[in-house]
Amino acid sequence: MKKIIVFFCVLFSVQMQAQTVITNIYGRKNFTLNGKWNYIVDPYETGYYDYRYIPYDQNPNPKGGFFLDEHLSKKRQFIEYDFDKEPTLRVPGDWNSQKEKLFYYEGSVWYRRLFTYKKDKSDDRVFVHFGAANYESDVYLNGKKLGKHIGGFTPFNYEITSLLKNDGKNSLVVKVDNTRKREAIPTVNTDWKNFGGITRDVEVVEVPKVFVNDYFIQLKKGSKDELSGYIKLNGKLVKNQKVKVEIPELKSMAEFTTDDKGIAHVSMRLKEVELWSPESPKLYLVNISGGGDYVTEEIGFRTIETRGHDLLLNGKSIFLRGISIHEENPLRGGRNYSAEDDKMVLDWVKKLDCNYVRLAHYPHNEKMVRLADKMGILVWEENPVYWTILWDNPSTFNNAKTQLTDLITRDKNRACVIIWSMANETPVSDARTSFLKRLVAQARSMDDTRLISAALETHRDNIPNDRVVEDPFAEYVDLISFNEYVGWYDGDAQKCDDINWIIKYNKPVVVSEFGASALQGLHNDSLTLWSEEYQAEVYKHNLSMLKKIPQFRGVTPWILSDFHSPRRLLPGIQDGWNRKGLIGENGTKKKAFYVLRNFYEQIEKEYK
Ligand code: GCU
Repeated sequence: MKKIIVFFCVLFSVQMQAQTVITNIYGRKNFTLNGKWNYIVDPYETGYYDYRYIPYDQNPNPKGGFFLDEHLSKKRQFIEYDFDKEPTLRVPGDWNSQKEKLFYYEGSVWYRRLFTYKKDKSDDRVFVHFGAANYESDVYLNGKKLGKHIGGFTPFNYEITSLLKNDGKNSLVVKVDNTRKREAIPTVNTDWKNFGGITRDVEVVEVPKVFVNDYFIQLKKGSKDELSGYIKLNGKLVKNQKVKVEIPELKSMAEFTTDDKGIAHVSMRLKEVELWSPESPKLYLVNISGGGDYVTEEIGFRTIETRGHDLLLNGKSIFLRGISIHEENPLRGGRNYSAEDDKMVLDWVKKLDCNYVRLAHYPHNEKMVRLADKMGILVWEENPVYWTILWDNPSTFNNAKTQLTDLITRDKNRACVIIWSMANETPVSDARTSFLKRLVAQARSMDDTRLISAALETHRDNIPNDRVVEDPFAEYVDLISFNEYVGWYDGDAQKCDDINWIIKYNKPVVVSEFGASALQGLHNDSLTLWSEEYQAEVYKHNLSMLKKIPQFRGVTPWILSDFHSPRRLLPGIQDGWNRKGLIGENGTKKKAFYVLRNFYEQIEKEYK
């Protein structure tokens, strides 16, 4: 008897947790749960483990979660918590920047949101969708466990159709634990603040009983007028179903039939399509229907390819005038969470005369990428495989692969996204290169239309001024990208003038980082460290050094604005901030901002 029970538990928990992420939440019938959620700080995991068992991992509470909700646990003779009497946190938003007492908190916080929901149509299905929660989330609805999600920057959703209360009154409880773990992605050491919490939108989404779960609609690799991709239905009757793609402005419509897995391959010619570009970010309304569902969104079409040293957008050579950014609003000192945050950051990017951003070092929120689509800003998106990951750990690899898969699933229809980055600054070893190669295979299997890159490793030869870009992973990527800090960690600004870059790959070079720190408002001569003048000098010398590289086709200096990092402790200068921003924590531009903008204005003329 026992065996059977175990089997069903495993099956149930797998089904509960294996929910494919629904594409284009904002283009569907959704009801937001953003707003004020009650919360309980739980550093001792009182709400999750039976207190008698230590260490915790020997006997996690099989039901998971005691803090399910007092309304539901009346039968217990005593209750030592009460969400109704607890304060609230704003969702979306990290807890560190909302409550001074939580600024350094790493551990679990329990969130509770009461909501009333009545379905529009009785046979519809309902899901709860999270844009992201950092880092590990356990989700419960009306006392029932929906699942556990691992990963701090990618979306996840659970079907709640059968768990919604008839009286409409529901209680959603989420435990978020942002404790850094050695085996996690990223691992315990990063140069950014580990903002914890439900950091992105939470939506209730209602869909027909058979709905369009996912679709990929982009130009076929190498074509300027043929769409290629797929539409995936979800539900009971998904095979041999008619699905349709319509682009009214192009008077284009095509129908397809799903296979026995509910998937239809899409292939259709477009007449006179206007290609998306930074100068003209043309988006078309695309309507996708099937199984009684109808989804619509704006999609752009463009080509991106490399030819030897050259990088071509829509067949024309392009230089990526970029900047790296973290997902942090420096004025508030917290994770970006609103459209205003994203707009402020991308307006700064435009003022820098950029046509490109590196969203470092993890997936930023979906609306940021949709805004870049609209504003004509090309995007490098990155999986948080950062520094010294546990390369030999299978669960660490699966975690990295899942986060990469969910990122590509979410953003594969965004014309602005041209590069999937596998990693940042990962020390070379056989295990590391094997780990990254398998991630490339996953990315290419999902999307063969975009370029693959990573911040590769460089080394110094025994000739003092040679810098060699040589990394066994370089043969698997399309762009040669690397971080270099000549003038900061590697000599002074003038040293750039003597450096000889040795890059043996016949591929475009897009430098992923260079930079220097400066405290905004600290002025001195150009030899004084931490002054704005020194940072400007490093920019001047680096830009003229990099321009000598024959394959040089882009750069994203580190970084647009100062950001929080617990590693940066110099009193009176850093105080917990990484000061390599071109913009200070108060939004004021430093001198180096103008050095880079002048360089880009020059480059723009050369590539006209
Ligand atoms: C590294 C790393 C960044 C870090 C930067 C720095 O290259 O990629 O995440 O913040 O250098 O040292 O400021």
